[in-house]
Amino acid sequence: MLSKEDEEKINQIIDRYRDDSGPLISILQEVQTTFGYLPKDALFHLSRRLKIPESKIWGVVTFYSQFYLEPRGRNTIKVCLGTACHVKGSDKILDKLRKILGIKEGQTTKDLKFSLETVRCLGTCFLAPVMMINNDYYGRLTPDRVEHIVNQYR
Ligand code: FES
Repeated sequence: MLSKEDEEKINQIIDRYRDDSGPLISILQEVQTTFGYLPKDALFHLSRRLKIPESKIWGVVTFYSQFYLEPRGRNTIKVCLGTACHVKGSDKILDKLRKILGIKEGQTTKDLKFSLETVRCLGTCFLAPVMMINNDYYGRLTPDRVEHIVNQYR
């Protein structure tokens, strides 16, 4: 259940886009920025306010990988599993991250500090194996370096 205050925040976002022809994605992006993810009650509220069927909103949210339906960690770790990184042992980096965070890729730690994702290329193959934490790149990784790096974000 959304609080009156949260409903009002969403209403203000809707009002700013009311005159646009295709505002749904922009509204969803801004709601996600406001809450850090898209709470289900927020989607129901958008459906009522925008008079768009829930099924359509749900279709958009599940189609685009940029939208998250669960709370996200404050820090997002992206481990590259592309060819160059794979050859240089990225699975060992991922294994180490799973172990120290206690989660698998696609999950968020209970304390909401970290979300773990895998990607196909971070565009810095010459640094393989590579991971990103938020906007920071870490290259030529070894499993031993990973824990020290992650601890800097705790
Ligand atoms: S394959 Fe890992 S950065 Fe390109």
